[in-house]
Amino acid sequence: MFSGPNDPETMQMILLDTALDCMRQHFPEAHALLPAAWQKLTDPPEPHGVLPRVSYRVGPPQALPLLGELAACRDLACEATQPLVDTLVACRHGLSWQQSYTAKHGFDRSYLDHYGWINLISTEGPFFDDSLRLTIGYWGAGLHYPQHKHEPEETYCILAGQAVFHSEGLAPRLVGPGDWVHHRSFQLHAIDMQPGPLLALVPWRGNNLDTISSFAVG
Ligand SMILES: [Fe+2]
Repeated sequence: MFSGPNDPETMQMILLDTALDCMRQHFPEAHALLPAAWQKLTDPPEPHGVLPRVSYRVGPPQALPLLGELAACRDLACEATQPLVDTLVACRHGLSWQQSYTAKHGFDRSYLDHYGWINLISTEGPFFDDSLRLTIGYWGAGLHYPQHKHEPEETYCILAGQAVFHSEGLAPRLVGPGDWVHHRSFQLHAIDMQPGPLLALVPWRGNNLDTISSFAVG
């Protein structure tokens, strides 16, 4: 089925397997958001052996400008997140990088050149689930992710870098690799990439997983 360690399918499976294993070992609160079927895939851990049993579709790679600065995250990880950060950096040119926001949403070129994300699990693949979305997102140093909200609950598992989270009802807090931040459904939140950058593994659970965030305050 697989032609070698550098083919896109194997690369994608190793990346997902490494991400699930990182959550199981180091972010149990985030791992608990996963549907039982995904939790079972990593318990007990079988190195890449269980993933061929799930459906997937690996699309063509898609590059974004952030790829030029992603490798620096290897020096900004912690022991718990290093394997996933290293795997992501090694695979980065074979992945489909995307952006939710455009100039139409008020994001200028200086933001869009330093931001992007990939889906690991989503309604559109590469691994499929209708009730869960698992992404890895990157935001460059100095960016401000404006206050927004969305229906799915989410947990940021910080993989590398540091940022200040502003979550409705809580004091601002600086977080770094190994930390996690949970947002309830429709809880307002904003992020300052200070000092930045920020690389995070983010599971989302709930309705409207593919709906763009609302920036309306309220
Ligand atoms: Fe969010």
